Amino acid sequence: MKVLVIGAGNMGSAFVKQISAAGHEVSVTARDTSKAATLAAQYPGVKAVTSASAAEGKDLVILATGYADAVTALQSVGNLQGKVVVDITNPLTADYMGLTLGHNTSASEEIAKAIPGAHVVKAFNTLFAQVLAQGATLADGNKATVFYAGDSEPAKQSVKALAESLGFATADAGGLKNARYLEPLAGLNIYFGYGAGRGTGIAPTWVGA
Ligand SMILES: NC(=O)c1ccc[n+]([C@@H]2O[C@H](COP(=O)([O-])OP(=O)(O)OC[C@H]3O[C@@H](n4cnc5c(N)ncnc54)[C@H](OP(=O)(O)O)[C@@H]3O)[C@@H](O)[C@H]2O)c1
Repeated sequence: MKVLVIGAGNMGSAFVKQISAAGHEVSVTARDTSKAATLAAQYPGVKAVTSASAAEGKDLVILATGYADAVTALQSVGNLQGKVVVDITNPLTADYMGLTLGHNTSASEEIAKAIPGAHVVKAFNTLFAQVLAQGATLADGNKATVFYAGDSEPAKQSVKALAESLGFATADAGGLKNARYLEPLAGLNIYFGYGAGRGTGIAPTWVGA
């Protein structure tokens, strides 16, 4: 797959590492071009690109900025009509202990409204950057799960295929509206990781038939 990663922070760096290691063609763009260049230089074949037209020719665009920067970042990469856009954002309060929206909408739905014609899929938002960077198998031997939710079946299949190529278990979480559940699930994960002191090597999963 040809993948564009927007953002060179914790999650963007982990995506670039894992997606390039899995053999995909990765480009990365960042607000500060030197950060994208420094990140790209660490992995063979990864290209740092400027934002203008960066989405052109890509199969999948991963949004790895904060929620507040999401729309600006997406609108900077060119035409997103028909593109699969993976929204990993969690709309967190400043203290990371709450969400700024939910119940009757979600970050994903608000982002989708701003880029009509793109196929937004919520995914990877329940994984800590540490888990993404270290790989799918956790310290206790369990595989972390990537939940994905979206309204386009082909777009969801692309995201599932990407997650599986990185070694993750996957779970179809339904339509994009269910981002309203996935974002609070990430909030609970953050509570377990930081509030309850379990650390950032954990991830939510589902068990049973
Ligand atoms: N960290 C986690 O464990 C984790 C887990 C699950 C989901 N998430 C979600 O993933 C997203 C990224 O989190 P993070 O921890 O990676 O944050 P981060 O380290 O702050 O990285 C965000 C990056 O986005 C860049 N950025 C901002 N506006 C941009 C634009 N217009 N164009 C290109 N790049 C832009 C920032 O650039 P500057 O460096 O110039 O500010 C920064 O490098 C957030 O929405 C978060 O809720 C994070």
